Amino acid sequence: MEIFKSKSDLLHTLKKLKGPLGLVPTMGGIHEGHLSLIRKAFQENSSVIVSIFVNPMQFDDLVDLKNYPRNLNNDALLISEISDKIKIYAPNQGDVYGSKIKPNKYSFDKLDKVMEGVKRKNHFNGVANIIEFLFKTFNPKNAYFGEKDYQQLQIIRNLNKSLGMSTKIIQCPTVRNKNGLALSSRNSNLTRLEQKIAPEIYKCLLDVKKRAKVNSYEEILDLVSFRFLKMKECNLEYFIIANQKTLSEISSTDLISGNRAFIAVKLGDTKLIDNIELS
Ligand code: PAJ
Repeated sequence: MEIFKSKSDLLHTLKKLKGPLGLVPTMGGIHEGHLSLIRKAFQENSSVIVSIFVNPMQFDDLVDLKNYPRNLNNDALLISEISDKIKIYAPNQGDVYGSKIKPNKYSFDKLDKVMEGVKRKNHFNGVANIIEFLFKTFNPKNAYFGEKDYQQLQIIRNLNKSLGMSTKIIQCPTVRNKNGLALSSRNSNLTRLEQKIAPEIYKCLLDVKKRAKVNSYEEILDLVSFRFLKMKECNLEYFIIANQKTLSEISSTDLISGNRAFIAVKLGDTKLIDNIELS
């Protein structure tokens, strides 16, 4: 299993390889959700790069950045179980940003003016900086992203278009544990009790999907608020139903077609997000 710290070494190796290149950007803490993207990339391309880089530019909370799980050896082991031909790119900050001090600024056609974009001011700008770097450096044919971070996925689609890249963005379904909790690197920070409560988030989304056929938006908002008020350990940060292309909150009475429900919950110190397609 080759782990590259330097983009020029990796580019040198890639030159010798033929056929389509797939890219799976990650921040490590590899779990079955990441592995599903990597498996798909491995099936659909002749070469695959998995990048592992905890990108400081997308964190607005230093404690969150410090606590982010880092275990490159374990990550590499999990990835090698798919294939040891996969190339891991695990750079340090210098290889990515050099001596750049000012991040590039982007506009995302208002996709960043809702949900995580409001809660975490420079987050998506930071994500766009690393994705632009990865796309321009490696020019992958296909790049794989999870529906779990649906707002990020839409923002990356928008970025890809405005950069004029020919990379194809591949949307991959959310992988959940047997209780329905969406897998996330942050789940490892949950206490035992919090792990028991966390599946309530997806249960709530499933309930919303059912109710969207019969209830009004106002009724659903009330029901969701009530549900989380009863759970003292959970703090509901937001719940909205939005158009899945524009991410703008719905204004019509049709809750279903072309829409998605989005939720963010703080469980102790850990923030969890999830979403569900309503159509
Ligand atoms: P990270 O949280 O490591 O996620 C890497 C990729 O795995 C993202 O596309 C994410 O949506 C996907 N993913 C995470 N959990 C998943 C799950 N349960 N099911 C399916 N896919 C899942 O997202 C990031 O890193 C970063 O912001 C990044 C895009 C790498 C930029 O730094």
